[in-house]
Amino acid sequence: MSGLMDQALALYAHLPASERFHVHARASSAPLLAVASRLPSGTVADIGCGHGLLSAVMALAVPERRVLGVDLDERKVHWARQALSRLPNVTLDVGSVEDLARTQPHSLDAVVVCDVLYLLPDEKWPGFLQSVRSLLKPGGRFLLKEVEGDRSWKHAKALAQEWVMVSLLGRTKASGGMVLKPRVDGVRLLRDAGFEVREVVGLGQGYTTPHLLYDAEAR
Ligand SMILES: C[S@@+](CC[C@H](N)C(=O)[O-])C[C@H]1O[C@@H](n2cnc3c(N)ncnc32)[C@H](O)[C@@H]1O
Repeated sequence: MSGLMDQALALYAHLPASERFHVHARASSAPLLAVASRLPSGTVADIGCGHGLLSAVMALAVPERRVLGVDLDERKVHWARQALSRLPNVTLDVGSVEDLARTQPHSLDAVVVCDVLYLLPDEKWPGFLQSVRSLLKPGGRFLLKEVEGDRSWKHAKALAQEWVMVSLLGRTKASGGMVLKPRVDGVRLLRDAGFEVREVVGLGQGYTTPHLLYDAEAR
């Protein structure tokens, strides 16, 4: 684990063991540092921030950066606030991408959405992506981290794992779906929502999940 991730994890040291376990598992199972390293400075929203681990990494990496974390799950925002309270450049709120798009249109330099969209049913993807688009300044950056629907054993394992987290343990709040899309579908949906896709990067190496990152820009 890198020094930056250790620093971020240390923020959770006073939380209950169940929450600490959750963020440590997240740190070792998802390429959060690789995602954060691509983001510009300026004002960045972390939509579906969960416990706020990625928000913490982004805020610690660039202290001049302003990070806005939002999540629909008030329990997670509670724990994120407890952990990140000492970071002056982070604001955390309960809410949706639509709430943020209404209050802060065209105001952000970048948006990151990490392992959130696959929790939405198909029909909600276009609206969600259009809301992200309307949050960004022209040329603003959008990093979309998804789990690739590539029909591999990693794909099957990721679906089973999410089913346990959402339906069995109730640790993750879904929004009515669980859809792992092939990358061609992701690219098409991003283009339809007004993004130019700069790069699609497989980040699954060394993980048991087929992590996929779309690096895009608001047209
Ligand atoms: C697997 S967690 C990922 C958390 C965090 N992004 C990370 O990478 O560690 C998915 C999160 O998405 C949130 N979520 C699900 N649907 C959402 C929506 N429509 N808007 C905002 N957050 C949502 C859930 O509450 C949950 O915290």
